[in-house]
Amino acid sequence: MSWEDNVRRTEPYVAGEQPKDKTVIKLNTNECPYPPSTSARVAAAWVSENYDRLRLYPDMDATPLVSALAEYYRVDPEQVFVGVGSDDVISMSFLTFFTSGRKILFPDITYSFYDVWANLYRIPYTAVPLRDDFTIDPTNYIPGSAAYAGRGETGEDEVCGIIFPNPNAPTGVELEQGAIERIVAANPDKIVIVDEAYVDFGAETALPLVEKYENLLIVQTFSKSRALAGLRVGFAIGSRKIIGYLKDVKFSFNSYTMNEPAILLGAAVARDAAYFHSITERIIRTREWFKEELRDLGFDFPDSRTNFVFVRHPSVHAKQLQQQLRERKIIVRYFDKPRINEYLRITIGTDEQMKAVVRALREILGK
Ligand SMILES: Cc1ncc(COP(=O)(O)O)c(C=O)c1O
Repeated sequence: MSWEDNVRRTEPYVAGEQPKDKTVIKLNTNECPYPPSTSARVAAAWVSENYDRLRLYPDMDATPLVSALAEYYRVDPEQVFVGVGSDDVISMSFLTFFTSGRKILFPDITYSFYDVWANLYRIPYTAVPLRDDFTIDPTNYIPGSAAYAGRGETGEDEVCGIIFPNPNAPTGVELEQGAIERIVAANPDKIVIVDEAYVDFGAETALPLVEKYENLLIVQTFSKSRALAGLRVGFAIGSRKIIGYLKDVKFSFNSYTMNEPAILLGAAVARDAAYFHSITERIIRTREWFKEELRDLGFDFPDSRTNFVFVRHPSVHAKQLQQQLRERKIIVRYFDKPRINEYLRITIGTDEQMKAVVRALREILGK
């Protein structure tokens, strides 16, 4: 017996590259191309002037941030949970809600952290195939469908939870609200997590359903639409009960995950709705312009409601395209995985950046 027999072995998530060369056009991790709200700068100045406060532990309830989010989304502060990016929030949710040894369901093509957390926490899962056009088939998430198979002697099905991003990543495809409500309503004995990392770019949020369904958890992030990926701020909104359970686990794990600057800057950013709307609208406009250019160049892609597009070209393979863009100092994301290895995911940057991408693509494709 060696100490290594006791090691929790797991395969870590592979994040998109963060290149050292700052002159590249970085369109590989869906960050926002615009700076955070200037109110974050004011909060940062306050933190700097009051740096002596860093002696103290942060507010474990993250009160300023929770209050700002509760006001903005018109919910009770007890319905808000915050964490170190939505990765932290989702990871805590897995730890809290998926404990029965029964499996969870998520799409076969989706955010590639879900299976990493499932493996880390030893949660069985079934990856439910998307349709060929990359849409989610909601009937797969209704008890009785194939993914629920394996009913035990008690008559209970084998599923304890469901998670999917809406819009999905890396496809960018949105599932309509009626379908989401059907899934949540059909699974009252399971937690359903809707990961809305990209919802602010023109998709519809399922937040209004929270008042009606105790088993629904909505997760969002400041990393994309609020331009704050570097600070690590994410949050969840759900019923008081669901949020209460999440907090109990979080406070049993590490009470002080969010640091004071993140809480204060996050609160300032959450209060600046005007800037938030202006940058998301700008990104949507750029995306729609870029889609037209892509069509013109012969690309094929599912319709995106996010800050990225998922594209393939009939004449140049994605991997080759990625390499040729890289030679022109443009970095995009390629996933060498079944069903999607012909696609590239391109984050929407500024107009200037996307014009440079179009120029590079024209050159590569000889158009
Ligand atoms: C679908 C989805 N969920 C969650 C996250 C995590 O975001 P963060 O931890 O930065 O909030 C990402 C990041 O790319 C994502 O694509």
